Amino acid sequence: MRILAIESSCDETAAAVVEDGETVLSSVVASQMVTHGKYGGVVPELASREHLRAIVLVVREALEVAGTRLGELAAIAATAGPGLVGSLLVGLTYAKSLSFASGVPLIAVNHIEGHIHAVIMEARRAGTPVEYPALALVVSGGHTHLFEVSAGFDYRLLGKTRDDAAGEAFDKVAKLLGFGYPGGPIIDALAPSGDPLAVRFTFAKMKGNALDFSFSGLKTAVLRWVEAHHMAVEIAARRALLRDCPQPSVEQWLAATPQRTLDLLASFQHAVIHELLTRAAASAEAMNARTLIISGGVACNSGLRKAAMAAALPYPVYFPTPGLSTDNAAMIAAAAFPKLARGEFAALDIAAQANLTLA
Ligand code: KG4
Ligand code: ZN
Repeated sequence: MRILAIESSCDETAAAVVEDGETVLSSVVASQMVTHGKYGGVVPELASREHLRAIVLVVREALEVAGTRLGELAAIAATAGPGLVGSLLVGLTYAKSLSFASGVPLIAVNHIEGHIHAVIMEARRAGTPVEYPALALVVSGGHTHLFEVSAGFDYRLLGKTRDDAAGEAFDKVAKLLGFGYPGGPIIDALAPSGDPLAVRFTFAKMKGNALDFSFSGLKTAVLRWVEAHHMAVEIAARRALLRDCPQPSVEQWLAATPQRTLDLLASFQHAVIHELLTRAAASAEAMNARTLIISGGVACNSGLRKAAMAAALPYPVYFPTPGLSTDNAAMIAAAAFPKLARGEFAALDIAAQANLTLA
């Protein structure tokens, strides 16, 4: 049984064909990084236009690589939200049209559920299936959420960010310091060259739900540090580097970054990782989790992966492989399989929902 899935919630146009909920036959991702990079963040109007340009080719390639024709599919899945509404509309409308033309049923998927199912699918394929209840920490550019996941895929929200998402904090700090977009991969690559304990960042204690996150104070603390250390010249030099070369190498960034800034980046990343893992461990303990799933774009972070492994937690911790961490359509197909089994199909008039929630 094969599902074609389409994902277009933010700045990647993606399509994938997955068989039996565990074998990825194709996964095509057209990134818009170069388009948005020079603006230091995603420009929604440009994103929609790029999706329109890419969608037909990306879907065609996913079908071709998988050696699958539309009529052979068990379902066509698409992300219905959350995300940028103009971006979501492109993928969802295209999926509806394909479903209408071919008679193959449509399945609507929540993007966050996709991130969680990327890990569930890979764990199953590896012969080490996720045990339930599981705790899922979804950390991306738009989300920092902790969910309790039951064996039947019911979700209970345990905590979330009250302001910036973790990936957003990476992106904003990188932008402030003159690095490109997205900021996470650059900070990840430079942090090992700095001292993570050089700058001590503190977090205010959360009132109310102790499992909630807040990253805006950290971002402000970085801003204050930058102001106090007169960094305008080096920041201008990095912005100039970015103008000359849209995607500088790590060596180029290192040459344009003094040691104290590397220390700042390492300390910032260390603080984010500490927050994420402290709250995740507390949630896992509170709900007696049997597995910890960490997914979403920030799950690519090598410091986070190392710290999670080094923490020697009393339950297995699963990360998606890097290709399934950032936005992709294989994860949307993975989340669609249980819905296919339950006959949970979407009507062709289903609307894209920018603020769709999972729980
Ligand atoms: O899941 P994703 O591709 O899109 C959203 O659903 O938001 O996540 C993108 C986010 C961006 O904020 C990006 O900076 C962050 O993931 N990211 C990383 C890394 N790779 C991507 N953050 C930290 N370290 C990384 N290696
Ligand atoms: Zn995502």
